[in-house]
Amino acid sequence: MDKALSGIRILDMTHVQAGPTSSQLMAFLGADVIKVESPWGDATRKQLVDIPGADSLYFTMLNCNKRSITLNLKNDRGKEIFTKLIECCDVVMENFGPGVLDRLGFSWEQVQKINPRIIMASIKGFGTEGPYAAFKAYENVAQAMGGAMSTSGFPDGAPVVTGAQIGDSGTGVHLMAGILAAIIQRQRTGRGQYVECAMMDCVMNLARVKWRDHQRLDHGPLAEYSSQDFEDFTPRAGNDSGGGQLGNAIQCKPGGPNDYLYVVVQEHVWNALANRIGGEELLNDPRFVNIDVRRQNQGEMWELLTEFAGNYTKRELMEILNEIDVPCGPIMSTRDLANDDHVKLREMYVELDHPQRGKWYNLGCPMKLSDSPVEVKRSPMLGEHTDEVLSEVLDYGGDEIEDLKAAGAFTR
Ligand SMILES: CC(C)(COP(=O)(O)OP(=O)(O)OC[C@H]1O[C@@H](n2cnc3c(N)ncnc32)[C@H](O)[C@@H]1OP(=O)(O)O)[C@@H](O)C(=O)NCCC(=O)NCCS
Repeated sequence: MDKALSGIRILDMTHVQAGPTSSQLMAFLGADVIKVESPWGDATRKQLVDIPGADSLYFTMLNCNKRSITLNLKNDRGKEIFTKLIECCDVVMENFGPGVLDRLGFSWEQVQKINPRIIMASIKGFGTEGPYAAFKAYENVAQAMGGAMSTSGFPDGAPVVTGAQIGDSGTGVHLMAGILAAIIQRQRTGRGQYVECAMMDCVMNLARVKWRDHQRLDHGPLAEYSSQDFEDFTPRAGNDSGGGQLGNAIQCKPGGPNDYLYVVVQEHVWNALANRIGGEELLNDPRFVNIDVRRQNQGEMWELLTEFAGNYTKRELMEILNEIDVPCGPIMSTRDLANDDHVKLREMYVELDHPQRGKWYNLGCPMKLSDSPVEVKRSPMLGEHTDEVLSEVLDYGGDEIEDLKAAGAFTR
């Protein structure tokens, strides 16, 4: 079936999380993603192993819908095959540490010489230039250096890493957008180009509204923050809404770790909300009659709401608040989500089978295209498609493949 990215062939050298999450999205949308692995494989295959002898979930959940070939890029015959693959691919993706590709002999300049139409897409911790360019990076390093950690957590606590992988997966999404833009430009110019995403830059982009607040501080305190203790940088805001409306996570019964409902007290729903939780008396309470005083007295407002919420589960409270049009959402644990009918209907947690691990689940594709439906297919085993790719894409015959094997092109 024709898919959005049918006909786009990707030479995917990515490893760990940031790159593979990006190429997996491309594969979901129909690109032919050929994952080129070293003979020892993407390190995540063997990280956080839950079933001995099977590829770990760390690997399987980031590498669906791809083909895997092994190539030893430190072997001359391995380099020869890789060069031929560059000639017939649209995109090379990679997220090696600084200088790795240059050392292998496949810098952007060299890749472009081999195939001027190719797009080369790289993730680096900090880009290829600047004082931080030589540093390696992982998720939490990017969150630390991109401003996410300093702005996450409670004002009186230590900086906190967010649960969403904005440094790795967030950068992967940016890279995909860059690649798609480069493909569109190539349709006009016939030329490929280099697309680079630095994890630090992408985290800064995702923390964009914290920069709004950083500059607003020049003109006085930020009235919506529950803590009014400011210096000259954006502080941690706990569960404050982060927007123009007040918001907070309200504890519900029975008081478990995720028994909370996140409630946004939009200005125009206040009357209905006040009436529902405290009747006429709260409706006319001077501490809360308008947004300005509600901001000043938000601590007391949250206490009243928490008192009311103590009678209900998060689901019950959500129903009550939805009836009066108050935006709210239960804090969903992974268990809640794994069993959620909406998630099932959206195909966001899909059951798969794997020869080594049996039944397992992967997250689905969050982009829903009406003419390019996604069928999630299990991740490949190491080198599963080496022979297939060599014969189908490069026209190698059986004897040639045997010669290459004997020359160490696929092994250590
Ligand atoms: C993630 C990261 C820290 C891992 O560091 P690392 O494990 O030391 O791996 P590197 O990417 O630096 O190096 C990979 C090595 O494998 C070798 N290698 C990779 N594929 C190979 C292949 N097919 N054949 C032979 N060798 C191969 C490389 O040549 C390199 O060896 P070298 O150090 O001798 O040059 C680093 O890759 C990085 O900073 N990447 C960019 C930022 C990023 O994406 N981080 C998020 C990861 S989720």
